[in-house]
Amino acid sequence: MRLENEVFVVTGAKGGMGRETVKRFLEEGAYVAAVDLNIDGMEKSDRLLPIAANLTSEADVARIFQEVKRVFGRVDGLVNIAGIAQAATQIEEVSLADWEKLMSVNATSLFLTCREAVPYMKQQGEGVIVNIASISMVRPRPGLNAYIASKGAAVSFSQALAIELADYGIRVNVVNPGPADTNMLGQFTSKNADVEATKENIFKKSVPLGRLINPIDIANSLVYLCSKEASIVTGSVLNVDGGRGI
Ligand SMILES: NC(=O)c1ccc[n+]([C@@H]2O[C@H](COP(=O)([O-])OP(=O)(O)OC[C@H]3O[C@@H](n4cnc5c(N)ncnc54)[C@H](O)[C@@H]3O)[C@@H](O)[C@H]2O)c1
Repeated sequence: MRLENEVFVVTGAKGGMGRETVKRFLEEGAYVAAVDLNIDGMEKSDRLLPIAANLTSEADVARIFQEVKRVFGRVDGLVNIAGIAQAATQIEEVSLADWEKLMSVNATSLFLTCREAVPYMKQQGEGVIVNIASISMVRPRPGLNAYIASKGAAVSFSQALAIELADYGIRVNVVNPGPADTNMLGQFTSKNADVEATKENIFKKSVPLGRLINPIDIANSLVYLCSKEASIVTGSVLNVDGGRGI
């Protein structure tokens, strides 16, 4: 097993990519603290610790790591999957509140979780962090202005931490998913658009390999980046996008 007895905090654990990631990490022998706004229906076990938390709250994020330390005794990895979409909106129509919410959930939450995780990892002399951004920050789509800015921040922040934390044996990487077959995809369409037609005619056709990305594609890339197989990989951005970024 590739993550045997290692302890991971996985955010966005109830979402499309998050659910699949929690499942794959458990299959690879990890202990997982599964964090989301709502954890209804997630069964606690000796390996799975569901935690309800709002990642934009400093107090909630501190509580997550205290609980993980209390239950599992250590923190080997942090996988930030949680995020929100932006419905395609022209810049003049974007409110400050919408901008701030996107930045807060998609970027500030990474600062808060990494700030809590790093002291444990420094103490242990190793650790791994993977943040999910988006291929849209490489190839933007019209109207996703605030979302793309938040994902650009996620990549720059991750690379800043990769260089800052290399001396401590802590690796920090990014996965850029392409258009993925989850609930979120339909939320990127503009108001009144036909969601299914947009998925088929725009998103799927934008992927050179000819299909949407599946949550398992992302989960497998996260297993790799978190495993010892990637022990020399840090500061990298792995596009799991079917070629969308080319
Ligand atoms: N689906 C796509 O096409 C796509 C493409 C590129 C990147 N991404 C990124 O991949 C990640 C996962 O996306 P997904 O498709 O699985 O989406 P999803 O909507 O299925 O899951 C996102 C999860 O994040 C949780 N979340 C949102 N705000 C939170 C908060 N404040 N605190 C705690 N949890 C919160 C939600 O409750 C949800 O369960 C996101 O960061 C997204 O931006 C998605």
